[in-house]
Amino acid sequence: MKNYRIATIPGDGIGKEVIPAARTVLESIAAQQNAFSLEFEDFDWGGDYHRKHGVMMPENGLDALRQKDAILFGSAGDPDIPDHITLWGLRLKICQGFDQYANIRPTRILPGIDAPLKRCRPQDLDWVIVRENSEGEYSGVGGRVHQGHPIEAATDVSVMTRVGVERILRFAFKLAQSRPRRQLTVITKSNAQRHAMVMWDEIATEIAREFPDVTWDKELVDAATARMVNRPASLDTIAATNLHADILSDLAAALAGSLGIAPTGNIDPERRYPSMFEPIHGSAFDIMGKGLANPVGSFWSAVLMLEHLGEPAAAAHLMQAIEHVTANPALHTGDLGGTAKTAEVTRAVCEFLASAQPPVA
Ligand code: IPM
Ligand code: MG
Repeated sequence: MKNYRIATIPGDGIGKEVIPAARTVLESIAAQQNAFSLEFEDFDWGGDYHRKHGVMMPENGLDALRQKDAILFGSAGDPDIPDHITLWGLRLKICQGFDQYANIRPTRILPGIDAPLKRCRPQDLDWVIVRENSEGEYSGVGGRVHQGHPIEAATDVSVMTRVGVERILRFAFKLAQSRPRRQLTVITKSNAQRHAMVMWDEIATEIAREFPDVTWDKELVDAATARMVNRPASLDTIAATNLHADILSDLAAALAGSLGIAPTGNIDPERRYPSMFEPIHGSAFDIMGKGLANPVGSFWSAVLMLEHLGEPAAAAHLMQAIEHVTANPALHTGDLGGTAKTAEVTRAVCEFLASAQPPVA
């Protein structure tokens, strides 16, 4: 029987509630499937660790994760520690250290979820956003001089490399090819940004030749926001730079009805390193410790993890369980307008897994 080694890093705030919930659900699916086992190791990194040790994770922390098959991450963010420290000291350190250059963000309107667009039926919104996750606007290249003086200056340089753009667009074309519609929209801003974005467009045209069976188009990022609202069904797989995809994915999650249910995967497609899966909601300090957090974002992230591990039957069964609970308003947490607690949603998912027949993979 296959055994997968999973690192869990709950991190801060409600991460400490939703990651244990995801672990419970994963243990239940492993027991139910009886085809693989999961071996968890928990890491207490994050804001509390920073208060004790002055860093978000140990210097050699990546070594403790290197041999894992996957990482399940909660959230990083602390009211007492600046955001750029919590982020660069933990999550981005792992993403960059393990070259998880492909970030995927699937978005759908799940059954029972009240999405805000009047004319958008659930079948009209089924997207995967592929976010470049290693360079671009998040390269960290730049500087600040003459602080506090009238001549103060600062730059954030967006660095795009041919290797970086080729590999993310190839990944996006491949993903589009694997989906029923075989359709990719490449987001750009080459009308205003004349260097890197023009190279991005050129490379998209080159890579597209490797995928003659994928229909593709280009869309300017500003126009893309309008298209997501006005013509959601015209989109399927969407590839964008680091910052463009960051913004579009929040819009996508909101259009699908809640940030509390959206998942993401930080993937190393070459599998040199473990990939990392996490809900996109933050640490939500206002509701932490009360058992009110929506665990569905973490459950859906666990689905992405099972798919990545090569367990499609378990992934499909867990997704079915998620849709079973979202379809029931009595199991909606506060972010969805309900009163259900984290533990109730978790229990309902486990009960479904134990009772229902798994779908045919
Ligand atoms: C995301 C988040 C992060 C990002 C924040 C927390 C820096 O918004 O994963 O989308 O911008 O990458
Ligand atoms: Mg974001």
